[in-house]
Parts: sequence; C-alpha cells; structure tokens
Amino acid sequence: MTELSFKIDVKDYDENWDNDTTIVGVFFDKKKNLVFGDRQVEATGFDKKELKKLAEYHDFKGEAGQLKLVSSPFSAVVADKKRKLYLLGLGDLSKASVSLMEQAGDKAWGSLKAVASKKASFILPLGLETTPGSYSQSDFFEAFLFGLTLKSYSFDTYKTKDKKDDEDKAEKLESLTFVGAEKKTLKAVASDVQSIVSGVFTTRDFCNEPPNELRPHLYAKAIKALFKGTNVKVTLLNEKKLKDLKANLFLSVGQASDSESHAVILEYKGKNTKSQKQPIAFVGKGVTFDTGGNNIKPSNGMGEMKMDMGGSAVVVGLMRALDARKANVHAVGIVGLVENMVAGNASRPSDVVKSMSGKTVEINNTDAEGRLVLADAMWHVQTKYKPSHMVDLATLTGAVIHALGGEYAAVFSNSDEMASSIVYAGEQANEPAWRMPLCEGYSESLKSDTADLSNIAKSGTGAGSATAASFLKEFVQEGVNWTHIDIAGTTMMKGKWAHVDKGATGYGVRILDRYVRNEFEK
Ligand code: BES
Ligand code: ZN
Ligand code: ZN
Repeated sequence: MTELSFKIDVKDYDENWDNDTTIVGVFFDKKKNLVFGDRQVEATGFDKKELKKLAEYHDFKGEAGQLKLVSSPFSAVVADKKRKLYLLGLGDLSKASVSLMEQAGDKAWGSLKAVASKKASFILPLGLETTPGSYSQSDFFEAFLFGLTLKSYSFDTYKTKDKKDDEDKAEKLESLTFVGAEKKTLKAVASDVQSIVSGVFTTRDFCNEPPNELRPHLYAKAIKALFKGTNVKVTLLNEKKLKDLKANLFLSVGQASDSESHAVILEYKGKNTKSQKQPIAFVGKGVTFDTGGNNIKPSNGMGEMKMDMGGSAVVVGLMRALDARKANVHAVGIVGLVENMVAGNASRPSDVVKSMSGKTVEINNTDAEGRLVLADAMWHVQTKYKPSHMVDLATLTGAVIHALGGEYAAVFSNSDEMASSIVYAGEQANEPAWRMPLCEGYSESLKSDTADLSNIAKSGTGAGSATAASFLKEFVQEGVNWTHIDIAGTTMMKGKWAHVDKGATGYGVRILDRYVRNEFEK
C-alpha cells in the first residue's frame, strides 16, 4: 500500500531547527497589499517592512502558487544563515475557500519538489489576524494539508524502470514542520489528515490496480491482510456461504468468472460510542471487471471498467481512515467482490433470479450488474447489523457522467436530512456531491411482466442513474435512512481537481469521513 512518504509535525518556532527550507505562505488583501503575520516575522528574521521590500524586489505579488526564493545563505540578503527562504503566494484573502486552500496545498507540494527540500518548514497564516474570514483555522489548515499530501501520491507498483530512476534522484522530502498558534488543535488536525490520507491512498491503490491482479478472490485476501492487527474485524463470505445466505442475485453476476465471488464485511467500533444505538453501514460495489456479460460492452474503452470496484475501494479506504484516526463511531462496511465475465454459464438477458430479500428479478440486461450485487449486500447488512443509516457507493451508471461529468457525484436518498448532511459534508471536504430526485414514475418503470422487478427501466424512460437508484430503493428495509452515491464520474480523474492529476481520485473517503465526524461523533 502506498503510504505518505514524509512526516508532518506542528511546532513553535525555534531558530535552531534542523531544516533546509522555510516557506512563508502569503495572502494579499483587497488593496493588493501583502499580508504578513507576526509569526512570519519571528520565523524569518525579517520584520514586516523588510519582508514587503524583499517581496517587491523579487516581484512577488502573492498570487496563488507564485513561488520566489527571497533569501538564502548564498545571497546578499540574509536573515538566516542556514536556510533558504521562499515566499509562496496563497492568493486573495477575501476569496479564500476550502477549494482554494486545497489548491494552495497542491502548489506548496509543487514548490517543495521544485526546491528539492529534505526538511522544510511552512509558516502559514495560522492563528493570526490573517486567517481567512469565514473559515476556522482548522478548516483552512486541513484543506491546505489535504491538497499537499494527496498530491504527493503516485502509483508506480508496476513501473520497474521509473521507480529506479526516482530512487536514484537525490533529495527526497523527509519532514514537514508547520508553525502556528494553538498547536494542540493543529496537531490534532495534522494527525487526522494523515489518517484520512492513508484511507484515500488505499482507495486509490485498489482502483489503480490492474484487473488481473485484483480478481475477487485476490481482492478479498488483500483486504483481510490490510486490516491485520487493526481494530477492524474482517469476515469473508465465499460462494458457499453466499449460497447459504441465498444471495442469488449477487452470485449470478460472478457465475461466469473462474475467480470466486466474495463478500467482505468490515466492522469497526470506536471506544466512545455509547450514544450511538445502531451502527452506520457502508456498502460498496466491487465489480473487479465489468465486460457487460452477454450484453457485452463495446470494445473501445472497455479497459476503463477495471475501476468498477471503485465503491468497494471507498468502503475499504474509509474503514481504514476511521480506524487510523480512532473515530468514535460504530460502522459496518460490506463490499461485494465479483467479476462480470462472458462464458457458457453467464447470465442470459431475461433470466429470472430470486434475491436474498425474496423479491424476484428479471435480469434484462447483464450489464446492469452493479445493482444486483448491491441489492443482496444491502439486504444482508441490514438484516444482520440493523443499521440506522446506510450509504452505498457505486460506479453504477454511465448516465451519471452525462449528467454531472467528473466534477460532482450524484446523491439519491430516502431522507432529506441525510441527503443534505452528505451534500454539506462534501462541500466541507471539497468532494462535491449533488442531490438528484427519486419518484414513483422511476420505480414504476422497473416493472417486469415475469418477475417482481426488472433490473433495467422500460426503454424510453431515460434518467438512467435515477432508475438505477430506484432499483436499489426496493432493497432498503423499513426505517433505514439510506443514501446512494453514484461515483461513476468521480472515481477516475476526469474533472479538474487540485489534489490529483491522473488515475484514481479516492473520491468518497473524505466526504464520508466528514459526514461521520459531523453526524456521529458529535
Ligand atoms: N459499470 C457500469 C457503469 C459505468 C459506466 C461506470 C461508465 C463507469 C463508467 C455499469 O455496470 C453499467 O454498465 N451500467 C449500464 C446500465 C444500463 C445497462 C442500464 C450503463 O450505465 O450503461
Ligand atoms: Zn455493467
Ligand atoms: Zn458495472
């Protein structure tokens, strides 16, 4: 698993620090004046006037991402004989937002690489009069850190050559120190961010794996190994157990694959969860490859379907994050791992299969397989764990990409309150989500002449993402607050985000971690 490759700490300024680079983050105000704080004066050895002069001399305007070396042990202007001093622009203070802070973090990562620092310190406007208006310094710091750390990710498991080239390169960042007031708060933020980042990296790693290396039985094993020695209890359900549980819809999807289908259950219970009577459940679609089955997909771009396990990877990454930051929550995750292949024993369009819930389903399109996996996985987790809330995540429909592209995930819910909490968490975590409607008409379109339900809507219905969500709704038990998040557009980089530039985004871990923090750890 990819881990963060450098240490992060928060300290008071000390002139004897062992670091080679100091980077001062600077906003500009409405009148375009640079805003330096007292701590920046203390840590650079220059007073505010001198700092302004230096900036002017180097034509530094504070624009987001602008990076200038203003003093070094080798230059005429020296405040500190040991370190190089850089100014990093953070942009317009009045426009500061979570998303802009994340972008600033991304630029900061770029600048650390550009200056090949091994040990760097950042003097951000933290705990100063300049902390961005509507944001608490924790939010500001968190977003900046996410931008910086998440951007440092690279997936190079299978690159034997580049990896070696990289290792040959001399300087590598080892440690990053932040200076700020309210050290205790900032330290807690830094520690939580590192835990959440380990979850996001886990999600990205699984999504980036090639499908031959992540077949259902291998994926199940990898998850088991990942949680060894943690507080997450792992239960594997193989095909025999799934059959005993009557998970026939689930099993129908993987029946043409020679890799054994598995459901994996992950249970985590934090120390202080007395006030939470019932757990929250997370359910993930884990189709390790989706050929479409007998309703085979077009050959162009079929390789993209290695990411069809994106929902499951979010559940795994999220559980890892919750465990790493010792969250005070009781959460159960379930992932359905199957491979949708074509062979003599593959499902035929018009097959009828009885689900675990007892409802019969006419499989009119074998490419609408994710909902079949989720229906039984959702039913099982509700029956066994009686959650009060359930979130499922899936790369469920191509239609959601037409609707929202790579910028927003689609949220469907049977609870207004839950939907708005999740959308709000997405705003805070900079993982945008947009609520879409459910209605009688969509459900009506899923009627079958032969069985209780069809797995696709009658032709001409349109609204492919909403009809898919309506199918899932048929498997939500009485009284359960349920939200479905369609992440087909946001799982692999398609949009324009600061924290990643290619491959898997890890979308889903941060929004749900925030949701848990906001609603379950109060
Ligand atoms: N895995 C796909 C959805 C998908 C498409 C994910 C593109 C990511 C990118 C899903 O199993 C699928 O094939 N859905 C069909 C449903 C249809 C047959 C009703 C779709 O969206 O076309
Ligand atoms: Zn499909
Ligand atoms: Zn699929």
